[in-house]
Amino acid sequence: MIQAADFAADAQIETVPAELMAEPLDWFFAEHYRHRQLCRLVERLARSDVFDGACLATVIAFLRHDLPLHVLDEEEDLFPLLRRRAAPEDDIERILGMLTDDHGGDRDRVGHLLRGLEKAGAEGMPPSREAGLRALLLEFVALERRHVALENAIVIPIARLRLKPQDLQDLSHRMAARRRSVAHPD
Ligand SMILES: [Fe+2]
Ligand SMILES: [Fe+2]
Repeated sequence: MIQAADFAADAQIETVPAELMAEPLDWFFAEHYRHRQLCRLVERLARSDVFDGACLATVIAFLRHDLPLHVLDEEEDLFPLLRRRAAPEDDIERILGMLTDDHGGDRDRVGHLLRGLEKAGAEGMPPSREAGLRALLLEFVALERRHVALENAIVIPIARLRLKPQDLQDLSHRMAARRRSVAHPD
């Protein structure tokens, strides 16, 4: 028999050990695995007719904190480094342009999603009950899965090929500093 505690555990997204940041490209890959876990939970919210507060809280926290940090890691650190190091035949500019467009579109989409999910949470209502929110959740899942697949298939392999040891070290330090400044804003 499934216990309530099992159900709540099933609504978690695994954390990545902070030490992995020393290997920043492995870190990105692990983060993308967490994004896939997020997509699974968002899909559950879109399709389930049962109110699942644990799942809702996990998704809201991830969209509010984890996802924006990841986008900053890419937009402010990984992508600029790649632009500097990629060879012309990598055709990286076109890919990075598409991914940056995705990030821009996500800002509005995620803002809408968060407002809808928070309202559903406050009312104790399954988000699937509202057709507009349900469609937005499923749209987010489809776009996010495509986005992560593109980054894993193209961006990370090119980064492994082109970034230099010093680049990786700088990347690692900048990502760690970003998390320290979020934890201690002063
Ligand atoms: Fe991204
Ligand atoms: Fe990413």
